[in-house]
Amino acid sequence: MKVEVVENYDEMSSRAADIVEAQILRNPRSVLGLATGSTPLGLYDKLAEGVRQRQLSYKQVKTINLDEYRGLNRSHPNSYHKFMNEHLFEHLDIDMRHTYLPDGQASSVEEECRRYEALIDRLGPIHLQILGLGTNGHIGFNEPGTPENSLTHCVELDESTRKNNARFFSSLEEVPTHAITMGIASILKSDKILLLASGKKKGEAVKRLLEKQPGEEFPASFLWKHEDVTLIVDREAYQLA
Ligand code: GLP
Repeated sequence: MKVEVVENYDEMSSRAADIVEAQILRNPRSVLGLATGSTPLGLYDKLAEGVRQRQLSYKQVKTINLDEYRGLNRSHPNSYHKFMNEHLFEHLDIDMRHTYLPDGQASSVEEECRRYEALIDRLGPIHLQILGLGTNGHIGFNEPGTPENSLTHCVELDESTRKNNARFFSSLEEVPTHAITMGIASILKSDKILLLASGKKKGEAVKRLLEKQPGEEFPASFLWKHEDVTLIVDREAYQLA
């Protein structure tokens, strides 16, 4: 894992945008793995800016998102479908038919997980996977206890994850209890991985990650098993490391 320490959130986002844009320029038909949460918002703003100001094109790019809440329909204000449309896709010239997220409302969750994993295999390998870091070490929605060989699956969210994400909902009760997420093994199939962490709140998690001890109790630690991971971390998130 290559670790790049940057000054602040803005610098982390710019550096990440440079890496994503270099990937698109190198291969206009790239497959990007995308994440939600607050961490990549700055990156997504910068990618939108790249389209406006430098005419970068995503016409041939395909995207595969990490996860979706179980039970929320695509247009629910808190669904990850809606999040991605609002924060990224609407600002790019991407063909929406080439943007993929798990269907949180699929009637058979097992079938949906199988379908999604097959999609990753058919379109992939993902050239560049973006990841945020949960305070409990989750990546995607792979909570502590998730095995290394996990593929796309349905998870029960940790209480801490629901609390952390409650800020996007009007109350904690509204945060779904389950989600569909790419598994650890699905994520590790990607060619390259870009992990982003910013702010004091992520200090403990970054410290734990940098102990280089792969194990289920801290899912992000499995990233040490991949040969091309870059962590971009700002000073606040790095301060305990
Ligand atoms: C969420 C998402 C993850 C995200 C993480 C960190 O629950 N499912 O993909 O990376 O938690 O969130 P944030 O970036 O808001 O700190």
